[in-house]
Amino acid sequence: MELKTALLSRKSCRSYLPKKVEADKLEQVITAASLAPLGMPKMGKPHLTVVTDEEMLKKLGYRAGPERDMIYGAPALIIVSQKPTRPGLAEMNAACVIEMMALMATDLGLGNIYLYGVTAALSKNGELKAELGIPEGNVPLSRLAVGYGTEDVAVCKEFVPSLSRNDI
Ligand SMILES: Cc1cc2nc3c(=O)[nH]c(=O)nc-3n(C[C@H](O)[C@H](O)[C@H](O)COP(=O)(O)O)c2cc1C
Repeated sequence: MELKTALLSRKSCRSYLPKKVEADKLEQVITAASLAPLGMPKMGKPHLTVVTDEEMLKKLGYRAGPERDMIYGAPALIIVSQKPTRPGLAEMNAACVIEMMALMATDLGLGNIYLYGVTAALSKNGELKAELGIPEGNVPLSRLAVGYGTEDVAVCKEFVPSLSRNDI
């Protein structure tokens, strides 16, 4: 897929098929994370926790009960965490990492969604953080859910500007 097509095709997927993501495709998504630009990487880099264990996915998604799965039944979830460095820097790094993975997932025909929800709750749950193997001192910042969507992802949208703008 051309980059322009991937940019126009990426959209948040909130409904997934109960089908696992092939290991090689998941690896390609994860590879994209390492290609992200990072602010002051010598001070600290993001860490990726790749969750495919069904029980753990339920534990992470069913925070508000099974009727409201916060990860929409996705079969894979990548949690990005980092030790805080300069204000906002770790969050910006996480955003870059997530977006790179989202675009790679789109290119591979995988549904995906950037998730902030419940990350704050996870930050406060030391036991769950330890169970997930998130390194000591790291703050979970953002997550990407990945899987086969119930709708085709490779649908190239028409470009419509959605942000305010001013030119000087
Ligand atoms: C920083 C960030 C956090 C987000 N957190 C959530 C979330 O917790 N739950 C959710 O359903 N969508 C979440 N989204 C997805 C947005 O709702 C979505 O990107 C937006 O509505 C635009 O739709 P699109 O991605 O299909 O273009 C998040 C997106 C971003 C960039």
